Amino acid sequence: MNGTALTVHQTARPHGFPTSEHFTFVESPLPRPAAGTALVENLYWSVDPYHREMMDDVPGGFTLGAPLEGRTIGRVVASRTSRLAEGKIVFHRQGWRTHAIVTPEEIRRLPRFDGVPPTAYLSILGGTGLTAYVGLTRIARLQEGEDVFVSAAAGGVGTATGRFARLMGAGRLVGSAGSAAKLDHLTREVGYDAVFDYRDGSPADQLRKAAPDGIDVFVDNVGGAQLAAAVGALRDFGRIVRVGTIGQYNTPDAPVPRFDYADIVEKSLRMEGFLVSNHRDVQEELYEFAVPHLQSGRLRADETVADGFEHIVDAFLGMLRGENTGKVVVRDHTEAVFAG
Ligand SMILES: NC(=O)c1ccc[n+]([C@@H]2O[C@H](COP(=O)([O-])OP(=O)(O)OC[C@H]3O[C@@H](n4cnc5c(N)ncnc54)[C@H](OP(=O)(O)O)[C@@H]3O)[C@@H](O)[C@H]2O)c1
Repeated sequence: MNGTALTVHQTARPHGFPTSEHFTFVESPLPRPAAGTALVENLYWSVDPYHREMMDDVPGGFTLGAPLEGRTIGRVVASRTSRLAEGKIVFHRQGWRTHAIVTPEEIRRLPRFDGVPPTAYLSILGGTGLTAYVGLTRIARLQEGEDVFVSAAAGGVGTATGRFARLMGAGRLVGSAGSAAKLDHLTREVGYDAVFDYRDGSPADQLRKAAPDGIDVFVDNVGGAQLAAAVGALRDFGRIVRVGTIGQYNTPDAPVPRFDYADIVEKSLRMEGFLVSNHRDVQEELYEFAVPHLQSGRLRADETVADGFEHIVDAFLGMLRGENTGKVVVRDHTEAVFAG
C-alpha cells in the first residue's frame, strides 16, 4: 500500500492553557503490518479532558515527540492475521493519528445497533456515557425522585448524566454551564429543570436559587467553588460523585475549595471519586440500558463533531475552552462506516 500517515505529537509542556504551538503533525509513509498485526485507518477520534492532564510531566503522561494515545474507531485496511479481517470496524486506543498498526489483543469489536450512529460509540455509549452511567448507578446509587446537581452539565459527561438521570426517574435536575446557549440546550433538549452560568456570580447563591430545597446528589465534573456550594446544598445522606476537576487542569495554582468539613459529618455525606477504566464490566449493562432508548428516540447523543483529522488539535483546545456542547468527536469520513 502506498500513501502517507499523519500523527500528532506533543512538542512542549504547557504552563496554563495549551495552544496549537504545543503540538505538531508528523507525516510518514503508511506503516506496513507485520505478521500477526493489521493496519487500521482511523475514522473517528475522541479528544478528552484527561489528555490535558497527560500533557503535563506526570507519570503515564504523553512523551514529547512521540505519538499520543486516545480512543478511536477505524477500519482494518490491510491484515496479516486471520483474527482481523479487512473491512472490520474496530475500537482501539492509538488515536491522534490517521493510521495505526494493531494486534487482535489491542482492539475491541463494536456491536452494531440499528439506528445508532458510529459517533455514539465514542460519546453516549463510549467512555463518556459509561462515566455518566457508573457515576449515577454505582457511585451515587441514584434513587427515584432524588434531586441532582451536575457541574459542566453541557459537556459530554454532563449531558449524558442529565439524560440518564431523567430516564432513571430523578427528581429536580439542576445543571451549571458556561454560556446562555448551553443553558438553553440543557433545559430545552436535555431535560434539566433549572440551570445557571457558574461565571455569573457566586455558585453557592445561584445553587440556592436553583435548588431552594437542597439536593441529594452532586455529580461533579469541575471541583472548586461549585463543589463547596454543593456541600452546603446537600441534604442528609447526600452523595458527591467526584468525576473530574476540569476547573484546575489549566490553572493548577487555583485555590482548593473551602467548605465546612462538619457538614460531611452532620449530614452523613459521602464523597467518592472513581475512574471509568475500573468499571469496564458495566459496558454491556450500559448498552442494555441506553440502546433501546436511543432507538426509540427517548435518548439522544449530544455531540460536537469536528470534520477532518487536521482539526483534531483545534477540537481538543476548543473543548478545554468550553466551545463544545456534548461530547467532542472528530470525524474524518462522513460515510456510514458501519454499513460496510
Ligand atoms: N473519572 C473518570 O473516569 C472520567 C471519565 C471521563 C471524564 N472525566 C472528567 O469529566 C469531566 C467532563 O469531561 P467531558 O469529557 O465530558 O468533557 P466536556 O464536559 O465535554 O468538556 C469540558 C467542559 O468543561 C467546562 N470547563 C472548562 N473549564 C472549566 C472551568 N474552569 N470551570 C468550569 N467548567 C469548565 C467547559 O464547559 P463550560 O462552557 O460549561 O465551561 C467544557 O465544555 C472532566 O473533568 C473529565 O476529566 C472523568
